[in-house]
Amino acid sequence: MCGIVGYVGADKSIEVLMGGLRRLEYRGYDSAGVAVIDTAGHIDTRKRAGKLQMLVDELAERPLANGATGIGHTRWATHGGPTDGNAHPHLGDDGKLALIHNGIIENFNELKQELLDAGETFFSETDTEVAAIMVGRAYRESGSLYESLRVVVNRLEGAFTLLVMHENEPGVVVGARRNSPLVIGLGDGENFLGSDVAAFVEFTRRAAEIGQDQIVTIRQDSVTVTDFAGAPVDLKEFEISWDASAADKGGWSSFMKKEISEEPEAVAKTLLGRVHDGAVVLDELTPIGDDVLKGIDRIAIVACGTAAYAGMVGKYAIEQWARVPVDVELSHEFRYRDPVLTERTLVISISQSGETMDTMMAVKYAREQGAHTLSICNTQGASIPRESDAVIYTHAGPEVAVASTKAFVAQITALYLFGLKLAELRGTLDAAEIAENVTELSNIPGKLEQVLETSGKIAELAHWMANTRSVLFLGRHVGYPVALEGALKLKELAYIHAEGFAAGELKHGPIALIEPGQVVFVVVPSPRQGSLHPKVVSNIQEIRARGARVIAIAEQGDAAVLPHADEVIPIPLAGRMFEPLLSVVPLHIFGMELAAAKGLDVDQPRNLAKSVTVE
Ligand code: F6R
Repeated sequence: MCGIVGYVGADKSIEVLMGGLRRLEYRGYDSAGVAVIDTAGHIDTRKRAGKLQMLVDELAERPLANGATGIGHTRWATHGGPTDGNAHPHLGDDGKLALIHNGIIENFNELKQELLDAGETFFSETDTEVAAIMVGRAYRESGSLYESLRVVVNRLEGAFTLLVMHENEPGVVVGARRNSPLVIGLGDGENFLGSDVAAFVEFTRRAAEIGQDQIVTIRQDSVTVTDFAGAPVDLKEFEISWDASAADKGGWSSFMKKEISEEPEAVAKTLLGRVHDGAVVLDELTPIGDDVLKGIDRIAIVACGTAAYAGMVGKYAIEQWARVPVDVELSHEFRYRDPVLTERTLVISISQSGETMDTMMAVKYAREQGAHTLSICNTQGASIPRESDAVIYTHAGPEVAVASTKAFVAQITALYLFGLKLAELRGTLDAAEIAENVTELSNIPGKLEQVLETSGKIAELAHWMANTRSVLFLGRHVGYPVALEGALKLKELAYIHAEGFAAGELKHGPIALIEPGQVVFVVVPSPRQGSLHPKVVSNIQEIRARGARVIAIAEQGDAAVLPHADEVIPIPLAGRMFEPLLSVVPLHIFGMELAAAKGLDVDQPRNLAKSVTVE
């Protein structure tokens, strides 16, 4: 939620800020704004409600004088509607100070009242303006931007990243973070701040983390970090492993289309360096330690949305391979229900962004209760891995489209690697069994390429169905989370009613929804995988008999499905556990194409933001 960028360097801040906002727009697109300290030393701002293009148009109409210091913001509205007035930056100290914010200041009502009583005037309905006015007042007393922000953050409750600059200190941007993301970009004669590295990867691949409750000051030639008490903190540098082109559309019509095309690569890169001679190599688990992993008696997977569905797939595999009970829970439910956690519980969090507040809170809670924590994350330098004992990074590359696609297959891959490693440690699979599964996993990228060849057919189907008002998805075993994922994609992208069900649950209620013409996608298990296949084929017959239009995702050559389905989308042969990595892709394509057929923006669906950094 909300993208933040800050810059100090050469007189090109508008170019840097707008480039950063373009790459961060996926985080929120209710409004956007920039402020710069121009060469005459004055703060000037432009801000507009709506997508970033509105700000681009505004800047074309009313250009902003360039300068060496600036901040920019793209907003996902929390307090106050998406209007020009509520757009950031907000001003303090009679317009001499500009401030942007990501998060929620929970005690803003009480602070606002205090400021009103002191005679301050507010121009917006946001919680952010409270911080701008408070830092402005503190500045009048201390004359130091760093000190003013430090004093104010100690009075704020909730989650926030704040960036602030003041006319009296040109060449300085000060930032603070608590439970909300902020990373530093280290340049040559210029430095950057961003909600994530995408904000500045065009200019530098050297980055540094900012820990919880820390304040950073960037100048052209220096970066200093302290904690909220003012004690200095050492910089923890890291190299960004992808370049700016990875975060560009690269000729594709949408980021989502590009990212679906990268699903094979996402799996391949997540495997890279982690399988060797038929075994799994996961040095990342060292901080937890083999003895602890051997001794765990329960795993709790916490995640939200698509990441939670990846977790559900992982549960089937980890339980089968490593014989440890696994529960999968939505992070926001887990955190507040007083779960039983012990020093023999491993909590695995899954998050593409690594910033999802619900998941971060669940991880913190688990640690406080003495559980071990492992993060599966796609974003380097993100908060959740930093809160965890160990991290397995998925190497899917930057995911810009709001709807998650390539991260899903990468997350399953990481979970499978972990499951196989755990099985090895616990002796529940022998070396040959592990090698067989490693081979299956290594063959997935090639098979995914074959699945992508069905894109044209799925696009045609979606375009015929542009007026469909409801679609159901059925799956069984590992196909069940795939059905849930297919339904989620359709809801969020095409804004139509969609639901996923476990196929076995059909007769316990959902079959009542079937009426003539109802479209139902069925994820069919392979006929080679035992007893589930005939059961799902029976389900297809039951709904077909009631008039459903069935689109089956089935293994190539599955002759039993053909007579009963209206359409069959073939997927290559794979072991049962590996089918979801293949069968999900047609559903990703379908959601995207149906949204496109309806003329919708597939990269930025309404009301959403890519990283949900508020609870
Ligand atoms: C759906 C989607 C969301 C995310 C969820 C978790 O397409 O993208 O459901 O999966 O918000 O996000 P992360 O993985 O960043 O924690």
